[in-house]
Amino acid sequence: MTRSIRKAVFPVAGLGTRFLPATKAVPKELLPVLDKPLIQYAVEEACDAGIETIILVTRGDKQAISQHFARDDALEAFLEQKGSKAVLERVRAILPSGIEVLEATQEQPLGLGHAVLCASKLVGNEPFAVILPDDMIRSDGPGALRQMVDIYEQCGHSVVAVEQIPIEDASRYGVAAVEENSRGLLEIQTVVEKPAPEDAPSNLGVVGRYVLSGEIFELLRHLGTGAGGEIQLTDGIARLMDIDTVLAHPFEGQRFDCGSRFGLVQATLEYAMADDELAAQIETFLAARTRT
Ligand code: UTP
Repeated sequence: MTRSIRKAVFPVAGLGTRFLPATKAVPKELLPVLDKPLIQYAVEEACDAGIETIILVTRGDKQAISQHFARDDALEAFLEQKGSKAVLERVRAILPSGIEVLEATQEQPLGLGHAVLCASKLVGNEPFAVILPDDMIRSDGPGALRQMVDIYEQCGHSVVAVEQIPIEDASRYGVAAVEENSRGLLEIQTVVEKPAPEDAPSNLGVVGRYVLSGEIFELLRHLGTGAGGEIQLTDGIARLMDIDTVLAHPFEGQRFDCGSRFGLVQATLEYAMADDELAAQIETFLAARTRT
């Protein structure tokens, strides 16, 4: 029987250099899309997928993220006294009840694989999810992680989210070549981190959602540095493929690369246009702007 996925690792120890100076004091994952920070959308997606334990891998000086999820009795009392019921509800909904938030430290930004390894003690020897909050995935149906957990529960194999990418962008992604099996699932044949476009094995880019077997920790522990001199999660996944099938899931939903300025603007616009209060205002603003 497959074990259920109860824990999700959120590697949030990167330096976020593409957003400096905004990310000098504020972690990238606290940048907002409308009125919620990126990390909150990611935690909501995890909770919808049945996750009970959130494991933040931070730089150690990123307490602001833990603080976002901690209860603030003084703020709640203030809002209650002011009669701001709707705002109070939104503050209380930041973390659904029964969800635990734990923190592991990555002392140095040695790469995504290393960040995941830093969570090994808190995860233990069980399958787990990894979510990169700056890859934001909007979905009208089940969230991307829910889709992947469903596949894991059906077949018991690790699952990695993929989407078609322009081949000229291959060197920004892990790139996977896949073959469809008799059950219509995509089995990864090879996966390479940041290949040059001419070396990319396909146009399927790995994006920031993973359901991984606990065996990956032992493999990451013995991994050397890979592309960019970092310990790469993709290289750990390539080793995992030596001992078990790893599936690729072309998720249903729209991904925004909120680690880039353009992606964050796109996400903001898309969420604003889906917001009853904002949509008409934005349309009027954009129409007036194109007229001038
Ligand atoms: P990025 O490649 O986006 O790096 O990391 P970054 O440092 O966050 O941002 P830039 O490129 O300097 O602007 C992808 C994810 O992996 C995490 C990041 O926090 C982000 O969620 N990460 C990366 C770590 O937690 N540790 C690392 O050593 C590297």
